[in-house]
Parts: sequence; structure tokens; C-alpha cells
Amino acid sequence: MASIFYIFVSLIVLIYFWLRKRNNYWNEKGFLQPGTKGSFMGVTKGKTPFQGLDDYYKSFKGKVKAIGIYQFFVPSVFPIDPDLIKHILMKDFSHFHDRGMYHNKEADPTSAHLLSLDGQDWRDRRTKMSPIFTSGKMKMMFENVDRISDKLAEVLQKNIETSNVHDMKRWSQKFTADNIGNVAFGLECNCIEDEHSVFMKYGRRLLDLKPFEIIKFIFAMNLPYLARVLKVRSNPKDAGDFFLNTFMQTFEYRQTNNIVRNDFVSLLLGLKHLYTPLELAAEAFLVFAAGYETSSTLMTFTLYELALNQDIQDKLREEITTRIEENDGKLTYELLFELKYLDMVINESLRKYPPIPILFRKCVKDYKIPGTDLTIPKGIKALINVYSLHHDPEYFTDPSKFDPERFSDENSKTIKPFTFLPFGEGQRNCIGMRFGQMQSKMAILKLIKNFKFSPCEKTLIPMEFETFAPFITPKEGMWLKVEER
Ligand code: HEM
Ligand SMILES: *[C@@H]1O[C@H](CO)[C@@H](O)[C@H](O)[C@H]1NC(C)=O
Repeated sequence: MASIFYIFVSLIVLIYFWLRKRNNYWNEKGFLQPGTKGSFMGVTKGKTPFQGLDDYYKSFKGKVKAIGIYQFFVPSVFPIDPDLIKHILMKDFSHFHDRGMYHNKEADPTSAHLLSLDGQDWRDRRTKMSPIFTSGKMKMMFENVDRISDKLAEVLQKNIETSNVHDMKRWSQKFTADNIGNVAFGLECNCIEDEHSVFMKYGRRLLDLKPFEIIKFIFAMNLPYLARVLKVRSNPKDAGDFFLNTFMQTFEYRQTNNIVRNDFVSLLLGLKHLYTPLELAAEAFLVFAAGYETSSTLMTFTLYELALNQDIQDKLREEITTRIEENDGKLTYELLFELKYLDMVINESLRKYPPIPILFRKCVKDYKIPGTDLTIPKGIKALINVYSLHHDPEYFTDPSKFDPERFSDENSKTIKPFTFLPFGEGQRNCIGMRFGQMQSKMAILKLIKNFKFSPCEKTLIPMEFETFAPFITPKEGMWLKVEER
């Protein structure tokens, strides 16, 4: 009994000294660090991680290029200066080519994909997969996206007969789940008609994590080596298995029946001489995971700002209807990307609400910060708070104002490089940008063409964010009044 007690006490003492040392880590390396120690970037104060980081950003901006922080005692570096950010993401990419994310091909096949792979594995796969995401390939999928966005407008139309107050976050998710389920898994998912469809269920399951799963996720993110030994599954097992099995079924069906379609499944099947079916399934899973919530978030906040700014909504509708009319009533891939005002509105929404507010890279060899005597040690992660850059009045005057004119031809030239990063930058930027833009723009176009959006009693003004969400997420959905036009 007594020996157990002594072991216990010595453990506590050891942990205490280890933590104290950890909390001095950055001071010893010559970096400034915020006073609060060991918290997860302010989450403890009821803030989201990007808001917690933003507090640090504001207090250290102009003083240093980067500070040292701790996430649950794990030290990370937080670059503040856009020029240093440019070095990390692009110029000195050879020091920062990994994200240092947990992946385990054997124990957790859904975890090993383009987003999480390291070093040469990542480089090879990025090279092999890039041709899948070219503009030409995206154009092939245009018809499908067009059809599914028409369905969104049609079903929403039927629904407003019973009620004209709707959670547009939910509708946006149904649309992107249907759309990506279709192109990445080859199925008619029926998420728009039936919100209890399996794709919707497992799509939400990936995000609605139980407390234990959140802890497991944070553990795997911060201690990937230990997680690998313990064979942790970073995604809920039921959801992971669902996506893998679904892809495998489509994969086999297409192979035996020699079916080729204009979608990601067929494009991935084209790589079957290079990768195992399970590896390809992990990439299909990633297309879903990376494309479902990001694009629906973009749609959700765009509709919110359009509802609050009726003049902008009217101007956008005017552009859409005139340009389609001038094109003999036809909407084409080219026309969708030529709509200038739509592009400006979308970019302003991405500025104010970047769906992925924090980028990160892992330092793979010691890195001396140019113009300083500070060195980022090997193994440390760099967190780039895109949200702070997008809301810094030095780079975007009056940052809380929704103003698409920031992205007019004339004004966009004055945006400082590496201060607008909704899709990341450098060799590891978002590979699916074109597809994300296509599906979000298409859905916004169809919705604005057919409906008028305005605030209702349940609309959150000002906006508040969900604390524990991995993406920027409105609290309690996105309730708006929807009327037919
Ligand atoms: C509006 C929609 C989207 C936004 C805002 C977005 C944003 C991002 C961001 C910020 C990153 C990290 C970039 C970096 O670290 O520099 C990223 C990476 C990635 N995204 Fe997207 N994304 C979107 C849609 C999509 C879609 C539709 C797909 C797939 C079809 C996709 C696939 C990926 C992949 C595979 C990566 C990892 C790339 C790599 O590490 O090589 N994304 N995305
Ligand atoms: C909007 O942002 C995208 C991606 O960051 C960029 O390619 C495009 O040129 C921007 N459009 C405008 C009008 O600034």
C-alpha cells in the first residue's frame, strides 16, 4: 500500500517539474511567450482556438515575428509576421513540408491520406493526385453539380410552403453531402430529400464527436508517435468503416462492369496500378472530409451576410440574372467562374469567416528565423492563425464590415501578400480549391436566383462561434427567413 503511495507522490512531483520545465521551454529558447500557460489557446476562457490565438496576436503584433505558445504543455510556434509566414509556407518549404498529423495506415486506414502523409510519401502522392484536380477535370463534373444544386432549390422551394424559417447550415450540409457523396463515392445519396440518409448521418458523425473522441483526437494530434504505438483511431470507427466499405463496393462494381463516369471515383480508379484499393478509399474519404464541411461553411456564412446586407444580395442577383440571360439562359462552367461580383462576395465571405481558420506545419529541420537569432527547433509545429490576418485592420480596414469591394480589380491589387489565405499557400495548399469554389458558387447562385434571404428572430446578430468545433462554426445553426422570388 505504502509503496503505491510513494510511487504516486513521486509521479506527481516528476510531472510538476516536467510541466514547469515545459512552461519555460520558449523563454529558454529566447522566444517571447504569453503569460497564460498550458491552456489550449484560450479555449478554457470559452473562446475558440482561433479567438484565443487572436488575443496573443493582438498583444504581440509589431513586437516580434513569432512567439512561442503551449497547447496543453506541448510547445508550438506562432508566427505573426506575413513575411515569415511566406517563408514557412513557401520559400523555406523544405523545413516545413509536413503537418505532423497522426496517421496509421494499418490500424486506422482512413487516417493515411494527402492531408496527413509526411515527407516523400506525401510528395509522391501529391504528384500522382494533382492531375485529378485540374480545371479540365472539374469541368467534367460540372453537370452533376448543376443537377444537384437544382435539386437543392427545388426541395427548398417545397419546404418553404410549410415554413419560411430555415437552418441554412443544415441545408448547405445536405447539399455538399449529396454532391460529394455523388462524385467521390458514385452514389445517389438523397441527402437533400431525406436528412436521415446514411451519408448525412456519417458526415455529421465525423464532426459531432463525443467528449472521449475529442480527447482522443487532441491526443493523436499532439502526441502522434504515442498514438501510433497505441493504434488509436482518430475518426469514429463506425463512420470510417462506412466510408471505406462504401467506396470498396463502388470500386468493385465499376471494375467488374467496366463503368467509367465523370467523377472522382473513376479518376481514383485510374490510379489503381499505383495504390491499393484501401489507399484509394482513404483518398475518397478525404475528399468527403475535406470538401463537405468547408464548402457548406462557406455557403452558410455567405447566406448570412447576404441576408444582413440586402443591397449586396440585390446586386449579386442582378449580376446572376443578367449574365445568364445574355448567355441565352444557359449556365456554363466558364460563365460560373466569370461572374465577377459572385467571386468578390465569396472571397469576402472567406475573408471574414475562413472555414479553416488555422493552418499548421511541422518543422522538420532546425530553422533560423531570417533577420533574428531565434531558431525554431526540429519537431515543433507552427500554427498560422489565418483568422487574425483576415481581421487585422492594418491589412483589411474596418475588418468587421462585410465589403465585397475589397476584392474589386483595383482594390485586390493592394492586398498584402500572405494576408489572405483561405485555401492556404505554397506546395501544400488546398488541392480541391477549384471544386470547392465550383460547388459553393453554384449553390449560392441557384439559391440567390430563386429566393430572397433575410434575418429572422432566431438569427444570431452579432455572430457567435461554437467553441469546440474544428471548423469555424456558427452557434446553434444558421436560421434565416427564406422567401420565394
Ligand atoms: C471552400 C472550400 C474549401 C476550403 C476553404 C479549403 C481549405 C483548405 C485549407 C486551408 C487547406 C490547408 C492548406 C495549407 O495548409 O496550406 C486545405 C487542404 C486540403 N484540401 Fe481543401 N478546402 C476546401 C475544399 C476542398 C475540397 C472540395 C477538397 C477535395 C475535393 C479539398 C481537399 C483538400 C486536400 C486534399 C488538402 C490537403 C492538401 C495537401 O496537404 O497536400 N478541399 N484545404
Ligand atoms: C478570390 O480568391 C481566390 C482564391 O484565393 C483567387 O484566386 C481569386 O483571384 C480571388 N478573386 C478576387 C476577385 O480577388
